[in-house]
Amino acid sequence: MRPNRRTVLGLSAAGLVATALAACSSGSASGGADDPVTIGFVAVGPEGAWRQANEQNIQDTFTEDAGFSLKFAPATNLDQKSQIDAFASFVDEGVDLILLSATEGSGWEESLNRAQEAEIPVLLIDRGIEPDDQDLYVTRLAPNNVAVSSSVAEWAISTFPDGANYFVLEGPAGVSVVNERNEGWNELMADQSDFTDLGSQSANWSTEEAKSVFETVLKSNNNDVQLVFAQNDEMGLGAAQAVEEAGLTPGEDVKIATIDGTEAALNALVDGTLSFVAEYNPLFGEQALEAVNAALEGETLDPYIEIESTTFDSPESAEEALPDRKY
Ligand code: AHR
Repeated sequence: MRPNRRTVLGLSAAGLVATALAACSSGSASGGADDPVTIGFVAVGPEGAWRQANEQNIQDTFTEDAGFSLKFAPATNLDQKSQIDAFASFVDEGVDLILLSATEGSGWEESLNRAQEAEIPVLLIDRGIEPDDQDLYVTRLAPNNVAVSSSVAEWAISTFPDGANYFVLEGPAGVSVVNERNEGWNELMADQSDFTDLGSQSANWSTEEAKSVFETVLKSNNNDVQLVFAQNDEMGLGAAQAVEEAGLTPGEDVKIATIDGTEAALNALVDGTLSFVAEYNPLFGEQALEAVNAALEGETLDPYIEIESTTFDSPESAEEALPDRKY
């Protein structure tokens, strides 16, 4: 999703935030004036290192000391229905605000409409919703997936001036960030006639599944694959295992580029297993706190708050970043 620098609040959302403001200022949002602001966090739950870092950072930010009571509701086995049920419970409970990291991009209209009717602001953490109806939520906080994956394509184009045969390991179908990462990659690679797209397949963010998928890809292409774009670190590391088991050398025979920037990926960049890592910064609890406070104060928020991220294109850049790495 492109950053969209217009103030977002349509009538429904403005009314929503004004009501939330009135409720909180009178201290009635969740009882007395000194009561904490109650937040329902409809989360993804165990999914990998990135998710762990992101959700821990949110929980470490919205503490009781900061004036919040955060109710953490991770999905059951990444199941959207468990998220929809948790969302409904928070609406029924009358929390002051809901944070949502959606396991699936679609299927949220009814939930979001119910929150709007109950005058409960919803802020999206990381994952977007599709269709992207910006009247159904106050804002979305995330690094820019399109720009992050375009940075991988830019690196690939500069690294392979004569082109390469490449394969893309995707996250789960239907997840907003997967569609955005495909957009950013395809936008640049579509014009690269010297590159050959050998295809793409979901490995569901999983190292084990990515190893299995890429083993098959290597075999079916007689190992004639020079580049892998893995849409997260875990899948890139799985592809590297497949490369080694095929008797090839990651970083030499097959270059692997990933998204996230976890410690494991940066260590793999140092040792040459990975060749490029585009950070997708998970640590934006402070920005989320500002957005939540602004929303409850009735301020106008942009529909998208872009979280800055960087890239790592060499062992030296990874080595320099590792000592201070927080995830
Ligand atoms: O939505 C962000 C993605 O979800 C991360 O890139 C991936 O590691 C996580 O599972």
